[in-house]
Amino acid sequence: MLIPLFVELCAGTAALSLRLHAGRYARPPVSRMGAKTGYGGAILAAMGFRAGQGAARYLWCDPDPGVRLLLEAYRDAGLAREAASIIRGWKDEDPRALWERLRAEGPPVLEPWITGGEVARRVLLGAWAFRGGHPESGFNPCAVYPREMSATDHGSKGRTVETPAGVLDTVPTLPATIHPDARAVDPREVARWALLGQWSFRRGEPASGYNAGLLSDRDPTPTGGHAAKARTCDQEAGLWDGLPTLEDAAIADDARAIDPPRLPPGTVCYIDPPYQGTTGYASDLTRAEVLSLARRWADAGAAVYISEAEPLTELHGWHYVDITTARVGQKRTFSRQQAEWLTCSVPPALKPGVQMGLF
Ligand SMILES: C[S@@+](CC[C@H](N)C(=O)[O-])C[C@H]1O[C@@H](n2cnc3c(N)ncnc32)[C@H](O)[C@@H]1O
Repeated sequence: MLIPLFVELCAGTAALSLRLHAGRYARPPVSRMGAKTGYGGAILAAMGFRAGQGAARYLWCDPDPGVRLLLEAYRDAGLAREAASIIRGWKDEDPRALWERLRAEGPPVLEPWITGGEVARRVLLGAWAFRGGHPESGFNPCAVYPREMSATDHGSKGRTVETPAGVLDTVPTLPATIHPDARAVDPREVARWALLGQWSFRRGEPASGYNAGLLSDRDPTPTGGHAAKARTCDQEAGLWDGLPTLEDAAIADDARAIDPPRLPPGTVCYIDPPYQGTTGYASDLTRAEVLSLARRWADAGAAVYISEAEPLTELHGWHYVDITTARVGQKRTFSRQQAEWLTCSVPPALKPGVQMGLF
């Protein structure tokens, strides 16, 4: 069955969506605390899905601007490839100097597509167009040089730059929310954030400082040296070049702001909040907020699944699956959090080590 909508309310690297869409070998190109790369297989199995089957549409929420750069690159192949080529352009620079320079530029920037300059350009184009508001109809000299003409001539009112500027000065402010889809992301920001995270002391956390050892100790032979070497510019660029594209994805910031309408049957909502008692994310969700989100999406018709270090027993009648032992890949050596649970609004299709529905 085609999944009509797959929602990740606390998307992070959206490792689960990536696996669902592009197969079991698809990995987020950046490391991030709490990423579900190692548990992706177990979670999809519990949902009854297989890696690579895909969904018709995705919805991702995360307030973190660095995360949103990554998510934008997932749905825009052009952006990902351009970021790759920018990273390649940095390859001859001294790594530490490059990293420090990129970090000094500050937190990641999501440029709003409509800048003040762009608004001005569009307003003026429309005001001076032959058919008002339609720049494609051509330039209308009468709209600009009317003063000497008779007041009865077509277009004789005339609009100097002052006219649209005055309108913009007094335009009312409406309490409207604009979906962040209408953003164009600067590929250089994607590139900058990718490299900063890759070469930082704690992966994905530029605030932890530059990790000289990761690059300078790099052994050119694949078998030698420390296992966790950082990627070079060329390797990083190659990763972004090969990133799968999930075009049908919407991206929003705060999960709490979304009030889902009645959802199409088969909609799946996965919630992977910052775990209770953990620190490190700029934004957080309380347990009460997680429970409220879970109920809201279940009431709207979604099958809801929540990851946590414990079962959310406050959700009476829901199902709890211990997936701790199902992790694939690197062990969580430095993490205090060892247990991994999935709380589900519908019966799980599969539990680790137990096949459901056979009896
Ligand atoms: C455990 S991580 C999710 C990891 C993700 N499943 C992955 O595979 O990378 C939790 C995420 O919740 C995000 N978050 C925090 N507050 C949020 C909010 N109000 N709405 C949506 N996401 C939020 C954090 O920024 C963080 O990326």
